[in-house]
Formats: sequence, C-alpha cells, structure tokens
Amino acid sequence: MYTTTKLYAVLSLALLTSASPIAHDKRQGNVYPQGPSDAVVLDLPSATAVPAPGASGDLYGTSDLLGYDGNPVKGSAVVQNYRLVPGQLEATDKGLELDFNLVDKPQPIRGTEGMSGGTDPGPDTSRYDRLNSDVFAAPGTDTGGVANAQWPIGLSHNRLGLNGSGWARQQNADVLPAATQLAGVDMRLSPNAYRELHWHQAGEWGFVFNGSLRVALVDEAGQSFIDDINAGDVWYFPPGVPHSIQALDQGSEFLLVFDDVDVTRSFKPMKYIFPGNAAPPDIAEQNTTGPAGPTNQPDTQYTYHWSQQEPLTIPGAGSLKIVDPTTFPASADISAALVTIHPGAMRELHWHPHSDEWNFFLSGTARITVYQAPSSSQTFDYGPGDVGYIPMTSSHYIENTGSEDVVLLEMLKAPQFTDISVAQWLGLTPKQVVKDTLHLPDEVVDNLPKYKPYLISGPTNSTDTNYTKSFGQ
Ligand SMILES: *[C@@H]1O[C@H](CO)[C@@H](O)[C@H](O)[C@H]1NC(C)=O
Ligand SMILES: *[C@@H]1O[C@H](CO)[C@@H](O)[C@H](O)[C@H]1NC(C)=O
Ligand SMILES: *[C@@H]1O[C@H](CO)[C@@H](O)[C@H](O)[C@H]1NC(C)=O
Ligand SMILES: *[C@@H]1O[C@H](CO)[C@@H](O)[C@H](O)[C@H]1NC(C)=O
Ligand SMILES: *[C@@H]1O[C@H](CO)[C@@H](O)[C@H](O)[C@H]1NC(C)=O
Repeated sequence: MYTTTKLYAVLSLALLTSASPIAHDKRQGNVYPQGPSDAVVLDLPSATAVPAPGASGDLYGTSDLLGYDGNPVKGSAVVQNYRLVPGQLEATDKGLELDFNLVDKPQPIRGTEGMSGGTDPGPDTSRYDRLNSDVFAAPGTDTGGVANAQWPIGLSHNRLGLNGSGWARQQNADVLPAATQLAGVDMRLSPNAYRELHWHQAGEWGFVFNGSLRVALVDEAGQSFIDDINAGDVWYFPPGVPHSIQALDQGSEFLLVFDDVDVTRSFKPMKYIFPGNAAPPDIAEQNTTGPAGPTNQPDTQYTYHWSQQEPLTIPGAGSLKIVDPTTFPASADISAALVTIHPGAMRELHWHPHSDEWNFFLSGTARITVYQAPSSSQTFDYGPGDVGYIPMTSSHYIENTGSEDVVLLEMLKAPQFTDISVAQWLGLTPKQVVKDTLHLPDEVVDNLPKYKPYLISGPTNSTDTNYTKSFGQ
C-alpha cells in the first residue's frame, strides 16, 4: 500500500514538473538539439527529457528534417534471389493451390500474362503466408470483400485451470465478428478434472476429441441423466439445464459449440476447471435418481454414441456422417456432420438454406472459397484447430489441399442437417437451360449427377490442371 501511494506521489510530482514553464524550454538538453536559428521549434512535451541510465542517442530528430532536403535517393526495395512455387505462373483464374513451404521467400504473385501481385520486400510475414497461401496470393477469381471466415483457435487466449487440471480457449464474435449464430470452446480436462457445475443461456453441444468423460444433468422435472462418453461421441445440454462434466482417468479434450454467441462471453465461473477425485469406474455408483426417476424419453437422452456409427463412404473421395434431431432429438437446434475428405478430393460446392455453418478442423489442410451474392468471393485456408464460418446461403466448397485426410465438423444451428448441392441442382435442371446459361460442353452437362454427391474425388497433384473427372457414374 505504502509503495503504491509513494508511486502516485512521484508520478504526480513528475506531471506537475513537466507542466512547469522551465521544463518547457525546448532549447535545453540533448533531447531537442537546437536547429537552424530560423527553424520552427515544435511545442513537444518534455516529460521524457531525462533518459534512462546508459541510454544514448536522441528520442527526436531535428526540425531541419522536415520536407525537401535535396539528398540523392538511396536504398532498394528490389527483391533478389526468389523462387516461385509450382502453379504460381499458371493463369490467375485457375487458382491453383500454392505450396509456399517449398521456397525461402514466398511472393504474392499469380500468373504471367496479366500478372497479379508483385514481390514482397518485407516485413517478412512468411510464417503466416505459408499457412494462408490463398490469402497471400489469392486466386484471380476472388473478388470484393467477404467477412473473415477463419479463426485459428491457437490465437485464442488460453484460460488455464487450477493445479494442472486443464485449460479452455474460445472463439466468439469478438474474434470472428461474422460468427453471429454459433460459437465454440476447445477444452482440456486432465485425468479426473472437472468443468465446474454450471448452466447457461445457450444450448451446449459437445464433441469428444480424445479420452472419456462422465456427464450428468438434472432437468426441471427433477429427472436425472448420467452417461460416460468416448472420443467421437456427442452430448447436448439444453439452455438453462445445470450439468456436470468430469474427465475419467485418462483425461479428455473436447469441443463445445454454443447456439448463442453471447453466452461464451458471460461465463463468470469461480473455479472453472479444477482437479477432482477419480470417478468410480462403475457409473451405477453415481447414478442418483429422485422420485421423478431418470430422464426416460428419446428427447431426454442427452448423449449420442456417434463414435459407433459407421459413416457413409464415397469411394475415392472420403466419408461423412450426420447427427441431428433425426437420430438425436435432444439436440433440438444443432445439427452436425463429421466429414473426412481424402487428398485431392473436396466437399462439393453447396450451401445451407437455413443456417450459417460453423466449422472446426480436426486434421489435414483445406481451403474454402466463400461466395456471397451478388458478386463477392474470397478464399481462406484451414488447418487443425481452425474455426471456419460461412454465412447462411453463401455457396462454398471445402477442398483438401494437402497429402493427408482432412477431418472437420460442419455445424449448423438448425433442426436438420440440410444443404443444396450445386451439381445436383444443375443435374436436375433441363439440359438446355444449363447449356444456354453456363455454356458448358455436352460431356460436362451429361455427367451432372441427379443425386447429391457430398464429396467428389480429384487429382492429388494440386498443379495438375486436367479437370476431367466424373461423379463416380
Ligand atoms: C493445488 O495444489 C496445491 C499444492 O499442492 C494444494 O495445496 C491445493 O489444495 C490444490 N488445489 C486444488 C483445488 O486441488
Ligand atoms: C486427439 O484428437 C485429435 C483430433 O482427432 C488428434 O489429432 C490427436 O492425435 C488426438 N490425441 C491423442 C493423444 O490421441
Ligand atoms: C440409472 O438408474 C435408473 C433407474 O433408477 C436406470 O433407469 C438408468 O438406466 C440408470 N443409468 C445408468 C447410466 O446406469
Ligand atoms: C504435378 O503435375 C504437374 C503438371 O501436370 C507436373 O509438372 C508435376 O510433375 C506433377 N507433380 C508430381 C509430384 O507428380
Ligand atoms: C485428363 O484426364 C482424363 C481422365 O483421366 C484423361 O482421359 C484425359 O486423357 C486427360 N487429358 C489430358 C489432356 O491429359
């Protein structure tokens, strides 16, 4: 206390001193060396006139540096000794995937004729440019502005729990302003640790990345629910319903997705994440039921053992599976797809008619071009731990740009997982209409699918520009 008071006194004294006329004499001391006698003397503050011990040089330059000075131009911003990566000299509108990991100094250049961009003398932003090649050297088809659609969870402030018990980092509209319908938290609970007992205004959907959790809740009828869930399983806790989450003896990392973006800002926990005693392996020992009994309707079962569902596999392209109220009624307004996209393949061009899309990438590298009517489009790059956000009805694809599978969650705030497939739409539109509108050759129009492809395969070599491919017919 004494120290603080003393500090305030010293600061006040310093402020008073700097405001005094004596301290305002700019021609004293070496901080403001005297310029030519007719130079304008600027009325600059002198509170910094006493330099730190050992400091040298001058804080400010002299007033004769103002304006024209007649010295010859020196220095160079010419970038020497750089190399371009495969695909960089292809036509800008091909938008080939560029791998800037192959060169020392990535350059934001595309195409030769009508070249876009130019060299980059620095500051060196290559640690971001290598991860975001389509932002650094955008495809020529990107036009106008689209709200930012990418947030790396690794840039979120990490809130650390007590005594090594875990941590949590969140994405909300503060960091990704376009994300107005859904928000997420990446949370770690060490073995036996708890997420503090709580409830919130938003519905909470959870997906287990690793390990196992014991979850429990009590509803307003006094019915209770308890279950153990593993990697790949999901839960849903309705708004206002209090619940508990404890990691079992191997710990867990999991994803929370909220259907109201304000909620994640309004957490005011006391302990938040903290260590606990191991839960008894036999769940029956913790199955506390009252006179109302356990929750006993399909829509009051708050977990879904999604890990045990085999996905729909699309040969050569990948797989996907959906969990929404069709099979998990408790999750009243959150629908999800877990999508695996093989190298070279993509989640086809589509949009969601009833909801924004919130993505979380578990593995692999991908890119998405978001098209926003009437005439804007922008391409974003994604890797593990990145959140993506695509506004309702904005068309987009998700392309695997790397050599390993892309795995991601597509989340909708909707009572069913639905989308409109561009390929199927065109396949079910009279051929003459499609040909007259898009001037596509017959072999392309004849190959348009009448079913929904979801995923389509493609060349694994990203600079291969032979786009002849089928929808598996
Ligand atoms: C955290 O660790 C300290 C030191 O071991 C201990 O005194 C304290 O009780 C622990 N707190 C909790 C919540 O376990
Ligand atoms: C946890 O899950 C993530 C996402 O599926 C995976 O990449 C990671 O390897 C897993 N970690 C462990 C320790 O199993
Ligand atoms: C908990 O006990 C109730 C009966 O009171 C039973 O219906 C329910 O299946 C039990 N749950 C678990 C996870 O054992
Ligand atoms: C990828 O395709 C390009 C263009 O056809 C070719 O030049 C290159 O050698 C291919 N790369 C590999 C690894 O096959
Ligand atoms: C493009 O690929 C298709 C299908 O593999 C093949 O039939 C065709 O010959 C290729 N075209 C060129 C120009 O290489």
